[in-house]
Amino acid sequence: MTPLVLVLGTGGREHALASRLALDPGWRVAVAPGNEFMAREHWIPKPDAQDGAGPAGWAALAARQRADLVVVGPEAPLAAGLVDTLRALGQTVYGPVRAAARLESSKAFAKDVMRAAGIATADAEVCDTTARAERALDRFGPPYVVKADGLAGGKGVVVTADGAAARAFAADCLGGPAGDGGNRVVIEQFLDGEEASVMAVCDGERHVLLPAARDYKRAFDGDRGPNTGGMGAVAPASAVDAGIEREVSQRIVAPLLREMAARGTPYRGTLYCGLMIGRAGVRVVEFNARFGDPETQAILPLVAGNFAELLAGAARGELDLEGAGRRPGAAVSVALVAEAHPGAAASRSWIDRLEAASNEQGGISVQGAGIVRGAAALPGVPADRWLLRGGRAAFVTAVGDSVAEARERAYGAVARLGGRGWRCRGDIGRAAAVGGPPPGALATDVARS
Ligand code: AMP
Ligand code: GLY
Repeated sequence: MTPLVLVLGTGGREHALASRLALDPGWRVAVAPGNEFMAREHWIPKPDAQDGAGPAGWAALAARQRADLVVVGPEAPLAAGLVDTLRALGQTVYGPVRAAARLESSKAFAKDVMRAAGIATADAEVCDTTARAERALDRFGPPYVVKADGLAGGKGVVVTADGAAARAFAADCLGGPAGDGGNRVVIEQFLDGEEASVMAVCDGERHVLLPAARDYKRAFDGDRGPNTGGMGAVAPASAVDAGIEREVSQRIVAPLLREMAARGTPYRGTLYCGLMIGRAGVRVVEFNARFGDPETQAILPLVAGNFAELLAGAARGELDLEGAGRRPGAAVSVALVAEAHPGAAASRSWIDRLEAASNEQGGISVQGAGIVRGAAALPGVPADRWLLRGGRAAFVTAVGDSVAEARERAYGAVARLGGRGWRCRGDIGRAAAVGGPPPGALATDVARS
């Protein structure tokens, strides 16, 4: 029987993962819970009435499928211990156990690990009262950087020059004006430079770096407006050359893996390094314990080799350091979101002609996320309409020989869409040259570089 890889999640990242894994010879792909748009291209096994909701339900479904490899997409089930549960059932799972996923689910924990491992990051103070938070804000000065300690879906960070706004957000995170909500807040030094996202596939000891990407986090063109989960991405990132990849591999990922192993919680899965590259060198802004969304949409078209085997090897603790490579060219992914994003979608907003935007020969693919078919959700709305359900609705991703070509294709496809109540940024990939090291091998474990 052909081995089965089951991707868990509902968004554009999981759609991109499923589509990339479907290209790997010798593997079948399933996605759960998936979404209606993905179901047009990928097998979505039906949940059982007894499965229950949330991560417990996902675990029950995954166990029933007896997949040869389970790939967990989003952070919440990782933080809730889904990998621990599935491993205890004997499943091969790609993703960190709960204690290792704390690198993302607690910013205070991540700071502690970085300090212990000697990884360059912003100087920070973890505060548990508003009085401490105010002292820390005064110490660091503007621009202020305030972070909620726990998971916040991309909305837990405020970077502002406005002291009152910084204090208000800190108090909010702390759960009350006196800071008696039992929460913690991280206040840190502002880092200047260019951001890039570098993801490492890790097996607990060794790692392979995937091509770097740049995420566009702000809601509006020109990097204005509030932070979001990501409005688009470009790969490779022009700020990351071979020297920076080496530095990330040797000074960030390798020491992190050593530190996590020394703490008895080896890190297996994707380590996402959010980086600030500036005059002071490469510093870590944040770690995530999973594939980035939408970085994954832009990166996977550039990864050569058998990706399913790569992840399965990592999940077993036997990562094949030569198992993947870098393809030439570039990719651009544009998020389609509600007009008010990161606010809620208006109840009658939809995207037309979304299926028609995919064009394999033309290098264009569409990933579905927060959308649902018309009629089922809203009586009287044609069933071929894709209604927005909140969050990011879908992604239009294109590859090309250059960022300029990929960008032209992606926006060409976006221009042919219809509907109302949705928007996208118009500047994803603008002014970005193709950067990064030349096609060929990926940067791997420090011992080999
Ligand atoms: P995080 O969730 O920690 O990645 O923060 C979200 C975004 O806030 C980052 O992608 C940066 O754009 C910005 N940010 C976070 N920390 C800093 C910092 N220390 N200096 C400057 N910008 C930051
Ligand atoms: N795009 C940023 C993230 O996945 O956290």
